[in-house]
Amino acid sequence: MKFITEPLNSSHYRKEFTCGKIILDNYLKNQVSQDIKRKLSACFVLLSDNQVVIGYYTLSNASIQRQILPTEIIKKLPPSYANLPATLLGRLAVDKNYFGKKLGELLLIDALKRSYLVSIESIASMAIIVDPIDDDAANFYKKYGFIELTDSKKMFLPMQTIASLFKDLPL
Ligand SMILES: CC(C)(COP(=O)(O)OP(=O)(O)OC[C@H]1O[C@@H](n2cnc3c(N)ncnc32)[C@H](O)[C@@H]1OP(=O)(O)O)[C@@H](O)C(=O)NCCC(=O)NCCS
Repeated sequence: MKFITEPLNSSHYRKEFTCGKIILDNYLKNQVSQDIKRKLSACFVLLSDNQVVIGYYTLSNASIQRQILPTEIIKKLPPSYANLPATLLGRLAVDKNYFGKKLGELLLIDALKRSYLVSIESIASMAIIVDPIDDDAANFYKKYGFIELTDSKKMFLPMQTIASLFKDLPL
C-alpha cells in the first residue's frame, strides 16, 4: 500500500471507524466536517483501496504561552513574545483493525512533515503541540520525543527538531 494522506471529503467512508477511543471515533463521524467548515481544523485521512478511512489526524494553528515552555527554550527567545506561534496536532488515530502496522507512526511523520513544510514555506511555527487524551496517548507521543509543557498535559516537539529529521530527505 502506498502511503498517501489527503484532506477528508464527502466521498470518504468513515461510519465504521473504530480506534478504541470513543471520543476520537465520534469526532471523525459527527464533528469534524463542521469543524472543517468553520475553519477550526483541517483533517487528513489515510484510506484503504475502497475509500474507507483507516487513519486520520487534524491540524490547526495554535499558540504556546511563553511561560509554560522549558527554561532552556525560553532563554533563547526574544522577551517581546508572550505567545509563540505553533501548530496543534489535535487528534491522531488509526482504525483498530490496522493497529501495529506502523500506520500511527507514518501518520505522525506525515503530520510533522506537512506542518514543517507550511512553517518554512508560508506561516512560521516554532513547535507542534499535542493534547493527549490519556496516558496511553501520551506514551505514544513520548516515544517520538514530545516533551511535556509545564502546567498542562499538553506536549510539544520543537520545529527545529522536526527540521533536523527532514533536512536530508526529499520533501
Ligand atoms: C496510538 C495509535 C495511533 C498507534 O497506532 P499504531 O498504528 O497501532 O502504532 P504503530 O504500529 O505505528 O506503532 C509505532 C510504534 O509506536 C509504539 N506504540 C504504539 N502505541 C503506543 C502507545 N500507546 N504507547 C507507546 N508506544 C506505542 C509501537 O509499539 C511501535 O513501536 P516500535 O516501533 O518500537 O515497534 C493507535 O493505537 C490509536 O489510534 N490509538 C487510539 C487513539 C489514540 O490514542 N491516539 C493518540 C493521540 S490522540
